[in-house]
Parts: sequence; C-alpha cells; structure tokens
Amino acid sequence: MRILTGIQPSGTPHLGNYFGAMRQVCDLQSKGESFLFIADYHALTVSPDPKALRQNVVNLALDFISCGVDLDKTVFFRQSEVPEVCELAWILGTIAPMGLLERAHSYKDKLAKGFSANVGLFTYPVLMAADILLYQSNLVPVGKDQKQHLEITRDLAIKFNNEYGDILTIPEAYIPEEVAIVPGTDGQKMSKSYGNVIPIFGTEKEIKKAVMNIVTDCKGLEEKKDPDACNVFAIYKLFATPEEVQKMRENYLGGNYGYGHAKLALFEKIWTCFEPMRRRRAELAADIPGMMKLLSRNAEKARAAADVLLSKVREAVGLR
Ligand code: ADP
Ligand code: TRP
Repeated sequence: MRILTGIQPSGTPHLGNYFGAMRQVCDLQSKGESFLFIADYHALTVSPDPKALRQNVVNLALDFISCGVDLDKTVFFRQSEVPEVCELAWILGTIAPMGLLERAHSYKDKLAKGFSANVGLFTYPVLMAADILLYQSNLVPVGKDQKQHLEITRDLAIKFNNEYGDILTIPEAYIPEEVAIVPGTDGQKMSKSYGNVIPIFGTEKEIKKAVMNIVTDCKGLEEKKDPDACNVFAIYKLFATPEEVQKMRENYLGGNYGYGHAKLALFEKIWTCFEPMRRRRAELAADIPGMMKLLSRNAEKARAAADVLLSKVREAVGLR
C-alpha cells in the first residue's frame, strides 16, 4: 500500500497541521510505502515572497523531520524537484470539467477572502490530483478541509481511466474523525491564513501568548462552565489522557475554575509534548545544507516512481 500526503510551505506549522497531517504521516510510515512532499508549487498560487518561500521550505523540512518523519521509511521530498507532476497536471487539466473546479470550496473561499483569482488558484485541485495520481497512491491522510480535493482527484482518475484504460490508481482519503478539525484561537478552523494559530515550535512566550488569546465566553471564575462549548477544552482533549480529560471536565462543571486555569494547563501540555521535538529540531538546524541534500536524494526516488506512471500516461493519451 502506498501512502502519500503533501503540505504547503506557507507559514509556521501549527497544531492543526500536527494533528491533521503530521502525526498521521508519522503513524502511517510503518504501515506501507510512505511518500511525503513539501508542496512548493501549490504555495506559489498565493504569490509568496521568494525568499520567504525558500525559508518556509527549509522550516517545514526541519519541522517534519523533528516531529518524527524518518527518511529511511518515508520518501520525503520537495514537490518542485519532481517537475513531471506539472506534465501530469496538464494532461489531467485537459479532461477536467470547468464546472468541477468552479465548485471547489478552496477556490471560492480564497476569492471570498480577497485573493485575486489567478489561474493557478483555479487549477489547484488538478495539480493536487496529479500529486496523488503520479505516485499511484492508495491512501492520502489529510484534514477534513481537503476532502473535496480528494473527491475531485477520484473523479478525474475515474474519468481518465474510462477514456484511456485502467491506468490510474483510485486513491482513498484518510481522515481520522477525532481530529477532523482543530479549532484555532478564535474558534474557526485553525489555519495560517486566518491568523488564529498556535505554533508548534514557537518560543515559550509565543505559545503562551497564543494560548492566552483563545476566545472563551465571559463567565466569571466561580461560575460553572460548559466544557463542550469551549475551545480551550477542545484543544486540551487532543493532548490529555482520558483521565485528565475527565478531570478537566469536572473542573469546568464544578465552578471555581477559571478559563485562565484551563489555559495554563493547556499551555503546559503543549510545551511538554513538543519538548523532545524542539531538541531534535535544534540539532537538525545546525546542518541545513546536509538536510536539504537528503531531501534531493529522496526526490530522485520519487522521480523514479513518477517515471513509471508518466510513461504509461503519455503512451495512453497518444503523446508517444
Ligand atoms: P493552513 O490551513 O494553515 O494553510 P494547510 O492548508 O497547509 O494549512 O494544511 C496542511 C495539512 O494540515 C492538511 O492536511 C490540512 O488538512 C491539515 N490541517 C490544516 N489545518 C487543520 C486544522 N485546523 N485541523 C485539522 N487539520 C488541519
Ligand atoms: N492542498 C493540500 C493542503 O493545502 C496540500 C497538498 C498538495 C496535498 N498536494 C497534495 C495534500 C496531495 C495531500 C495530497 O493541505
């Protein structure tokens, strides 16, 4: 079984990325042949500063490896080091109905948020389909927000196979329910683009500040509180043992337990959970060229896998 996912280098990774993607990748890397890439072509759709993009790629590589991606088990590479993906995206684009892409939430949301509509943003799901199909992936671990992109990928693969023969592998999304959407400090989905994140590798001060900024209702210290309506509790649940969650629930329901207390407990959890990863990250950061060389070597492996599929596709559509 081949498992693949990608992540955009568009900012500092946060708890949503960790629970929605990074942890699944680490857990799954021993369960099959695992592929992971930094989606730098996708990041271009929102026109980042080139220097910032380069820096974000390096940071993301540091983050993933320190969080447990094992370069012996996972083919971890940079998307743009396998440019063949653009060729497959082009071919898939020629069978992609306009209506299918016009219905994509990611595109509509970006427009609503004021991004100007470039063609790359519109065809984003086609490039994502190419990422997945190029490596004949069976399972794609992602957050719930990517569900529609996976459906588009499947639609395109089925359409391609109907027209040209049974060539593309139809992938399945892997979306664990309990971490489906990690809320941000304002209660919306945690996302770099909403400025509501709790960073994984921030300084103590930054993480504490983000946690203290989590929006709650304005119940006083002594009042009883509803844990299930509280963002602090929702995030706490991701880190704590069932016993600790039960204890926290009782604290909320009992009164005389303020949101400030809950926030401090949450901060402690986050800080200790990522302690070993912070140490590993500092070690890796001491040799960035070495780490990037390892990524390039992994890209060669990815390229070999890509060539197998792309040769069949070129042949099938009549390009060879
Ligand atoms: P962002 O929304 O911050 O830009 P990305 O789009 O780069 O994050 O997402 C990278 C990965 O992390 C994807 O698999 C995505 O589904 C997952 N992810 C991002 N935010 C969350 C969240 N709040 N909850 C769960 N998973 C998330
Ligand atoms: N669109 C994904 C996101 O924003 C990133 C991504 C690009 C991806 N290509 C992919 C995820 C292929 C899974 C598989 O999160």
